[in-house]
Amino acid sequence: MAGQIPQRFIDDLLARVDVVEVVGERVKLKKAGRNHSGLCPFHQEKSPSFTVSADKQFYHCFGCGAHGNALRFLMEYDKLRFPEAVEQLASRMGMEVPREGADDPRAQAREKKRKEGVNLLEMSASYFRERLKMPEGKAAREYLEGRGLSDEVRETFGIGYAPAQWEALKRHLGSQGVDESVQIEYGLLVHHEDSGRSYDRFRDRVVFPIRDIRGRTLGFGGRVMGDAKPKYLNSPETPVFHKGRELYGLYEARQANHRLERLLIVEGYMDVVALAQFGIRNAVATLGTATTADHLRRLFRLVSEVVFCFDGDKAGRQAAARALETVLPEMIDGRQARFLFLPEGEDPDSLVRKEGTEAFEDRVTCASPLSEFLFEHAAQGRDLAQLESRERYASQVLAAIEKLPQGVLKSLMLTELSRRTGVEQSRFEALLAPAPEDNDVAPVDEFFEPVVEDGEPAPRPRRSGGALGLMARTLQLLVHEPRLVERLPESLDWCGGQDEDARLCREVITLLRAGGYSSAQVLLMHFHGSEDGERLAALARRELLIPVAARAAELDGLVSYFQRASQTPSRQEEIDALLRRQQSGERLSSEERGRLMELLAAGR
Ligand code: GTP
Ligand code: MN
Repeated sequence: MAGQIPQRFIDDLLARVDVVEVVGERVKLKKAGRNHSGLCPFHQEKSPSFTVSADKQFYHCFGCGAHGNALRFLMEYDKLRFPEAVEQLASRMGMEVPREGADDPRAQAREKKRKEGVNLLEMSASYFRERLKMPEGKAAREYLEGRGLSDEVRETFGIGYAPAQWEALKRHLGSQGVDESVQIEYGLLVHHEDSGRSYDRFRDRVVFPIRDIRGRTLGFGGRVMGDAKPKYLNSPETPVFHKGRELYGLYEARQANHRLERLLIVEGYMDVVALAQFGIRNAVATLGTATTADHLRRLFRLVSEVVFCFDGDKAGRQAAARALETVLPEMIDGRQARFLFLPEGEDPDSLVRKEGTEAFEDRVTCASPLSEFLFEHAAQGRDLAQLESRERYASQVLAAIEKLPQGVLKSLMLTELSRRTGVEQSRFEALLAPAPEDNDVAPVDEFFEPVVEDGEPAPRPRRSGGALGLMARTLQLLVHEPRLVERLPESLDWCGGQDEDARLCREVITLLRAGGYSSAQVLLMHFHGSEDGERLAALARRELLIPVAARAAELDGLVSYFQRASQTPSRQEEIDALLRRQQSGERLSSEERGRLMELLAAGR
């Protein structure tokens, strides 16, 4: 695992980089006085309120409040983690990122190797793409056409063709000076120990490049065009390619929409590509493996909702049960997982062709929430009228609930289990292992992926004590459920107070309205690194402790309370106003004098 990046390196990097350039590569900017301005990439707008200052090396959006330096911009725009953003900036400046305690030559050699490999894979990807366009790629082109893929989708996904020869790629890479041993290491050649011979791994196959989130090719999947076996061939594990971590289509989904809210997890390459062909551009596929926790963490870093797609058959149900197990520990508040079962014998590819985009999207909309699937799955094959079956049902559900992190979902599931079994909730709570007490306030970074490399557990919400003020509670509701902003009255008079919470509340509402955000993470991202950010993150970590259905009503109640409070001046304010007028020599009407008496009397 790589060590920490020294702060002085980060300072040095930021001093050399130009934020205008970094932003300018992704957003069209125009010089406006000392600054540059353009359309904000973080919220939808028609006239530019996004400015970038070369002097201050800062960007700021007056519409949604997004602001920060070049690193922050990369983190938000490219959805990179901190070390990745540093890497990216450093590599464009030709700087090596030093790691504390890790400047040993072995780590450096590893890094050098990684770069070499990525380069080689990129060369191979473009070679395959070229071949597809050549006469030798005719059959492959026809195959893709036959499967209904347009040239456009083919290009979006960088699909290529590996020629039907033993040494086509090998010779090509060799002519570019790439060592055979490196080609073997990165899975492009198969090597036979006995004969010492090596030859192209992918031959006469349609080739799908598997890319990382930044679009770098890590490996390939190749499909035969006929019925030969194996149908698919993947790159083996290499220094950069790990089957259990990568997701096919993630880069392409992000390219299609930088503001993704939901991702579909499907089974196959062809499903991803066919859905994209039909305009559904948010599907990803695991590479012939079950979904892992690693996959899910990656996805939840980008979106707050995942929808698993499964075949409706028995194997599909089993796969869903496995996915359920994997996703449970990741379900911190604000995340959603749903389960979609397709009719038997269909996969997303065949179904979207048969039914069309809208019908498929309707299915996604109607997919079962995790809770529903969990209860239904546990009930399957059990006669719940029977006491023993009910007991087994309850313990199965309870075992699942136990895997959930502390949070609203967990409380709700317990309530629901109690409702369904008629057993008091406290009984179930007693059966659950006690949650670790942890009262210290975590730094805001806790809420994001930790600033170290992979393998970290997902951040967990913390418990924290102390009652919240009403305005803080309002903020908390909004942080947990940004969508609730839609219910708020147009005017913000009700939170016009001068205190910190009211001010922050106004800011959050303005931001949510401008950005149309629906995920707490994105909201927190905007405040990341500031005191407000810490305040919001702390509120996000506190459980709401009320069911989803009751949240809107609570918010409405709070708002009307504040409205009443802001409309009626406080007793003291009213007294002061009347007294001031009297003292300035103004004559009060008899009603006003009566009112003053009443107010003064009420105060005694
Ligand atoms: P089509 O059959 O072309 O529609 O592809 P598909 O993507 O629908 O394939 P399928 O549903 O049969 O399999 C789903 C995924 O499992 C594939 O996309 C592959 O990732 C993986 N897979 C299927 N068959 C094989 C195989 O023979 N070998 C390997 N390594 N993976 C496979
Ligand atoms: Mn298929």
